[in-house]
Amino acid sequence: MRTYYLRSFGCQMNAHDAERISALLEAEGLERVDEPEGADVLVYNTCTVRQSADERLAGHLGTAARLKRERAGRIILVTGCLPQAEKDDLFRRFPFVDGALGPQNLHRLPELLEAAAEPAGRPPGFFADGATMSGDLAARRERPYQAWVQIMSGCTNFCSYCIVPRVRGPERSRESRTIVAEVCGLVADGVREVTLLGQNVNAYGLDLRRGGRVEAPDFPALLRALDALPGLARVRFMTSHPKDLSDDLIAALAELPSVCEHVHLPAQAGSDRVLAAMNRGYTAAAYLERVQALREALPDVCVTTDLIAGFPGESEDDFAETLELVRAAAFDAAFTFVFSPRRGTAAAASTGQVAAEVKRERVERLIALTQELALGSRRRWIGRRAEVLIEGPSRDGKGLRGRTRQNVTANVTGAAAPGAIVEIEVTGATSTTLRGRV
Ligand code: SAM
Ligand code: SF4
Ligand code: F3S
Repeated sequence: MRTYYLRSFGCQMNAHDAERISALLEAEGLERVDEPEGADVLVYNTCTVRQSADERLAGHLGTAARLKRERAGRIILVTGCLPQAEKDDLFRRFPFVDGALGPQNLHRLPELLEAAAEPAGRPPGFFADGATMSGDLAARRERPYQAWVQIMSGCTNFCSYCIVPRVRGPERSRESRTIVAEVCGLVADGVREVTLLGQNVNAYGLDLRRGGRVEAPDFPALLRALDALPGLARVRFMTSHPKDLSDDLIAALAELPSVCEHVHLPAQAGSDRVLAAMNRGYTAAAYLERVQALREALPDVCVTTDLIAGFPGESEDDFAETLELVRAAAFDAAFTFVFSPRRGTAAAASTGQVAAEVKRERVERLIALTQELALGSRRRWIGRRAEVLIEGPSRDGKGLRGRTRQNVTANVTGAAAPGAIVEIEVTGATSTTLRGRV
């Protein structure tokens, strides 16, 4: 039997695409192996959101090239966002790659594989035209009790720093009845928790309505439909765009028992000047007002965020406003990034690029502050009870590991089976985890 090795990078959307790649390859009769050395076909599902992602990939492809030199029949394929962004550069830098395709052409993977198996000498296969939504493709789920469900693809927000709209195409929503049917199937298969995926889930359905489908449900209506499904214990969703976080959505989050108390709400920056240059569509005050509305409606909500340090033109005063916003929002957790110029985006061409050492120093201050806030947030749970979905054994093998409704990892002692939802008493905390007993 032929074997494949799959390595995926980037966001949840890409991780979910990796599940589809597995399903497609296994339908072709390939079997998965965990190490590249043992594989006939090596697939790298790439991310190109920051320069650092490209650099990491180069290291992995170096290993793939070595393995191919050792055995010429090995096939190396590159999927995901990088091929969509730069075809010529990809094959110039990595001439040993046998074929590549972008995220809107995933369904053509069997064709790519077949072309790559042809005698050497022909140009590598490449599919990045067209815009097929991969939402309906089957996925080979990694976890029995949890599933990703794509509700939208693409993005049309064009934040000035971001390459995603270029590589994932325009924002498109899947039909709600297709989504509900998929979730019903997952629940029948034993899934207890679904995570709804989209670059801006708050805008779900708006494209369908604009296209004349006035009856198409919006995101709160979709959540209400899913909450009504018997057997589904938890609904998560990401990512939320602050400009589309409506009062109706906050009300739905507060009223629906299955919808978890976690909102990932990227702020990116705290200076209105920088937010405008980023094309984010809100001010710092408007952002904080939304966070306050969320915290009032859902007292136990975890609000997490993404922040960028060193956007072009960001002054020390602008950056101080980001620190101020972070303190005011009291984020429960944050992903912090150094601005990385991406080819074809407006911000890459802007004047006022911030020096690398200044960006680094600012992001370190952001990390220190957000970690301090995260530790405070976790510690407030000590002595309280939390609901945990058990995912399996803890890393040290001595207990169990799971996640709370707020999406915080919990290391748990006591007896419970994977997939069980238990109540724990929280006895300890770090900035990223809780400790407790069933
Ligand atoms: N759609 C989501 C949103 O609007 O927040 C997620 C987009 S992206 C996959 C995840 C995060 O990467 C963004 O929120 C942003 O903080 C960061 N990011 C995107 N482009 C970047 C760039 N050029 N440099 C640094 N960080 C970037
Ligand atoms: Fe990128 Fe902005 Fe779209 Fe998020 S909303 S994917 S940051 S363009
Ligand atoms: Fe990366 Fe593509 Fe996601 S660029 S962050 S894998 S949408």
